[in-house]
Amino acid sequence: MVSFKVSVVSTSPIDGQKPGTSGLRKKVKVFKQPNYLENFVQATFNALTPEKVKGATLVVSGDGRYYSEEAIQIIIKLAAANGVRRVWVGQNGLLSTPAVSAVIRERVGDDGSKATGAFILTASHNPGGPTEDFGIKYNMENGGPAPESITDKIYENTKTIKEYPIAKDLPSVDISVVGKSSFEGPEGKFDVEVFDSADDYVKLMKSIFDFETIKKLLSSPKFSFCYDAMHGVAGAYAHRIFVKELGAQENSLLNCTPKEDFGGGHPDPNLTYAKELVERMGLGKTDSGGEPPEFGAAADGDADRNMILGKRFFVTPSDSVAIIAANAVAAIPYFSSGLKGVARSMPTSAALDVVAKNLGLKFFEVPTGWKFFGNLMDAGMCSVCGEESFGTGSDHIREKDGIWAVLAWLSILAHKNKQSLEGSANLVTVEDIVRQHWATYGRHYYTRYDYENVDAAAAKELMGLLVKLQSSLPEVNKLVKGLHPEVANVASADEFEYKDPVDGSVSKHQGIRYLFEDGSRLVFRLSGTGSEGATIRLYIEQYEKDASKTGRESKDALSPLVDVALKLSKMQEFTGRSAPTVIT
Ligand code: G6P
Ligand code: ZN
Repeated sequence: MVSFKVSVVSTSPIDGQKPGTSGLRKKVKVFKQPNYLENFVQATFNALTPEKVKGATLVVSGDGRYYSEEAIQIIIKLAAANGVRRVWVGQNGLLSTPAVSAVIRERVGDDGSKATGAFILTASHNPGGPTEDFGIKYNMENGGPAPESITDKIYENTKTIKEYPIAKDLPSVDISVVGKSSFEGPEGKFDVEVFDSADDYVKLMKSIFDFETIKKLLSSPKFSFCYDAMHGVAGAYAHRIFVKELGAQENSLLNCTPKEDFGGGHPDPNLTYAKELVERMGLGKTDSGGEPPEFGAAADGDADRNMILGKRFFVTPSDSVAIIAANAVAAIPYFSSGLKGVARSMPTSAALDVVAKNLGLKFFEVPTGWKFFGNLMDAGMCSVCGEESFGTGSDHIREKDGIWAVLAWLSILAHKNKQSLEGSANLVTVEDIVRQHWATYGRHYYTRYDYENVDAAAAKELMGLLVKLQSSLPEVNKLVKGLHPEVANVASADEFEYKDPVDGSVSKHQGIRYLFEDGSRLVFRLSGTGSEGATIRLYIEQYEKDASKTGRESKDALSPLVDVALKLSKMQEFTGRSAPTVIT
């Protein structure tokens, strides 16, 4: 057995290592600075209780972006030196974020070991490559992101760190081959185990969904399917699940080979960045020729996000979670005994609220960030949740789950088409399901405008103005009526604040809200996930109960409110932008 020694390297604090909404995300060149990654990882070890380090089992993997392999080898050497007992690595360093969560919760090593945490190497939907982003975040033993109490400690530790131990002479482990490598260190045995990236996750999906029913849908000549992994880690699961297990055609997979630069693209599943899928689904600017598939979906770099499309039809993420919640009990075996509750993030439309009310379900509105759902789920208060930012999931893990969302939609389609798949009736399409939902529950017209990489000071000023205006609503309403008399009055305005019903913690300043008398909303917030400058997000929502008016083009329906939002916030004045970077 190869043995290793531990040496202690002296270091000094590096500025700016404060983890954001989802870990530390910076340009690769920042991460490559001497001691940068080492400091952060050691600061994390020092923030954990000793039993989560000494003798512990840790998962280390990610979305396979540029610098991942180097980072994994460094983390292995640091883990060995800190007395970690074993490190589990997905083959080729690949594990989707939801799969990491599943591995922490479900995987049992051959000696009965269980993981107590994970370093996930991803910057999610941000581009990858030598000049793009890298990221690292720590997840806890429940499979969810570390809570603020831990990330605050990590940050404090990065400001005082003086040294870290490292097993410099530990040979690099070949992470492309499944198997175990064992070493002997000053504190005893240390193993690195490389395992199949998909096994544990596929097993979990099979325990949630009825694969046989979905298979009937996917193999029916009436149905067609397309999945775009955007060259992210979802590709490591798509072939196995959709083709091998569920019988989809090989050619229904787009960009399903994981690449360290995501093929030069921006791996964010929305109508702007998922261009190829959007074209194929008949929603592009040009007609791609041929009949689009019945169903299309895409994932982001680390496969926790999803976009759901029907033939020439876009499902907003806010509608998607509402529709999944409304159909879960009937269509998905995991939920057959009922939902414990449902939840959405504040900027997500209120479509889910209406479902919760009609079905008598517990309902929660939380700030942006998946960790808030995790607390509710750990307490058994929430089964299904989702966000406008293309995140949907359930209490099967503690991260949002892109492939789960696709399987949920396929289950609903299979359920609604039980008869039509056997007989000659027409297929119930994605569009049919959504329109039927609107007819039952009303429709929340919804759009989001993103202004990316704007000057941070200007963004702060804009937000400041919007807070100030909240104390003079009569003036605001004068402006609203002057612009668009048909828009309702602003009834109230505030900054969203959340008191966690489980641990009592309070999160303030979670977004600026203008709430209109007819239920419409304008929400403004600054993104917590960018790596450069500031990103302003503007969320616009309008509720229509009248079933005869739920079929309008979203753009037309929302145009007066959009105009009000832009003028009220002086968007162009502050940002110098006449149009947003992305509209979703
Ligand atoms: C990540 C988090 C989500 C959050 C999203 C948007 O994906 O996991 O919970 O909704 O970022 O965050 P942002 O702060 O950029 O709007
Ligand atoms: Zn992601």
